[in-house]
Amino acid sequence: MVPLYVMASNRLEEVRRRHAAAEAGGGEERRNRQHAEGKLAARERIELLLDDGTFEELDKLVRHRCRDFGMEEQIIDGDGFVTGWGLIHGRLVYVFAQDFSVFGGSLSETNARKICKIMDLAMKNGAPVIGLNDSGGARIQEGVLSLGGYADIFLRNTLASGVVPQISAVLGPCAGGAVYSPAITDFVFMVDTTSYMFVTGPDVIKTVTHEDVTKEKLGGAMTHNSVSGVAHFITADDADCLRGIRKLMEYIPQNNRDAAPFRPSTDPIDRMDPALDSIVPEQSNVPYDIKNIIHRIVDDEDFFEVHEHWARNIVVGFAHMDGRPIGIVANQPAHLAGCLDISSSTKGARFVRFCDAFNIPILTLEDVPGFLPGTDQEFGGIIRHGAKLLYAYAEATVPKITVITRKAYGGAYCVMGSKHLRCDINLAYPSAEIAVMGAEGAASIIYRRELAAASDKAAALADRISEYKDRFANPFIAAEHGFIDDVIEPRETRPHVIRALRMLENKVDTMPRKKHGNIPL
Ligand code: HXC
Repeated sequence: MVPLYVMASNRLEEVRRRHAAAEAGGGEERRNRQHAEGKLAARERIELLLDDGTFEELDKLVRHRCRDFGMEEQIIDGDGFVTGWGLIHGRLVYVFAQDFSVFGGSLSETNARKICKIMDLAMKNGAPVIGLNDSGGARIQEGVLSLGGYADIFLRNTLASGVVPQISAVLGPCAGGAVYSPAITDFVFMVDTTSYMFVTGPDVIKTVTHEDVTKEKLGGAMTHNSVSGVAHFITADDADCLRGIRKLMEYIPQNNRDAAPFRPSTDPIDRMDPALDSIVPEQSNVPYDIKNIIHRIVDDEDFFEVHEHWARNIVVGFAHMDGRPIGIVANQPAHLAGCLDISSSTKGARFVRFCDAFNIPILTLEDVPGFLPGTDQEFGGIIRHGAKLLYAYAEATVPKITVITRKAYGGAYCVMGSKHLRCDINLAYPSAEIAVMGAEGAASIIYRRELAAASDKAAALADRISEYKDRFANPFIAAEHGFIDDVIEPRETRPHVIRALRMLENKVDTMPRKKHGNIPL
């Protein structure tokens, strides 16, 4: 019989051996290749993502069960995915990282189970899930077992949506159906030049549509950040990406029952800023950068922009005011005059819904001339997409504050956080113009007969435009009706918004009982 202490020491060696094997992953040569491509290894990524020394790994000893195609000869402890939990800024998060050095980071049945295990824990314990993706997709040798694994993950992504924040980083390949897990999550980070996402790659596209397109142009980080809107952030390299995720975590809560994290600030809550009085140009068709206003009103000028490169006619992102996280949605007059179109409506709606799902108050800065005209927009379904933004604002029950800086015309007035959509506090600058449409359009429609009969048509039109502007292009009629709670001096914006946020701190509003709404997708 083997003495007990010998067994114990053998077991200890076995544990150490297996742990070391899991940590070695696909071996040094493959890891060096990863480094040569400018990418970090899975464990290196987790180390940078989490607070020092806080990672607790699960399922390090899991092995795949495939016995086809010679796989029985290639068994690596952990099977390539690194999963577990740790802390970011002292707060619990669950994380998985696909190790490209093990079968190209491909998803096996067992890897899928590893991901599902941490997702189930995240749901029970109310903490965010962060996925670091770098994978050749379904493990080809495992066939339908791998596909089933993906579907198990998609189900959990969907069930977790709106319950715990889900963040994806794409740090290498992410192709085929595998893209749909990141797509369901709340935020997608991509790394410039080393990451790509597509449903079908360049070769398939060439065969089917005869189009020539590079991997980078088809699904690179800038494509998804500026053209498709699939990704929310583009980063320079892996380390930059992981820092970005840590930064995002400063603004978002642990779950849908939690308050977003407080960040103390020395920025005075009653700080006035005279420079704000002159940011909005006197002439209403002159552009200005709405971010100049955002930076001047938030704590410490710190604004974390989301979807910076896509649909730049609307700006969305997070900031703190009075130490509390807020979501900001702002029309951008410096781009397409700040009009609403298909992409900006979708972008705004998605952001509003994230904030609403996770108890983050919404501050809207409005300067919108209306919806973008054109057949592209109408054929593309601006009616349906514009309705998404309206729907998102209307259903949001978090504190909602709107400041109209200049134009609030037509349907866009209604959509952008108007009083009528349950906004709590609506303020306007003296430069606000709130009307059905711009004075030029309005005058030429309502005085059409008169203008047609006038001897000097141009002079008559100018008179009528000026009359319409005097009468309607101001905030006072809306204020007289209580649709605007007050007209404020721009320099006072920060104190006004902060006082409103404090007043709304315990706001409770509800939705009628329903299974779920039917947002016009
Ligand atoms: C098993 C895979 C794999 C996969 C790569 N490998 N992808 N093993 N299943 N899906 C292995 C390779 O055999 C190789 O092993 C190692 O990973 C590295 O791959 P390379 O090809 O040498 O790397 P690289 O040149 O960088 O190319 C990466 C790649 C390419 C572009 C991702 O590997 C590739 O095209 N892989 C197949 C992608 C694919 O078609 N996947 C299935 C998509 S369908 P060795 O031992 O040589 O290091 C899908 C459906 C999901 O995912 C459906 C969800 C609903």
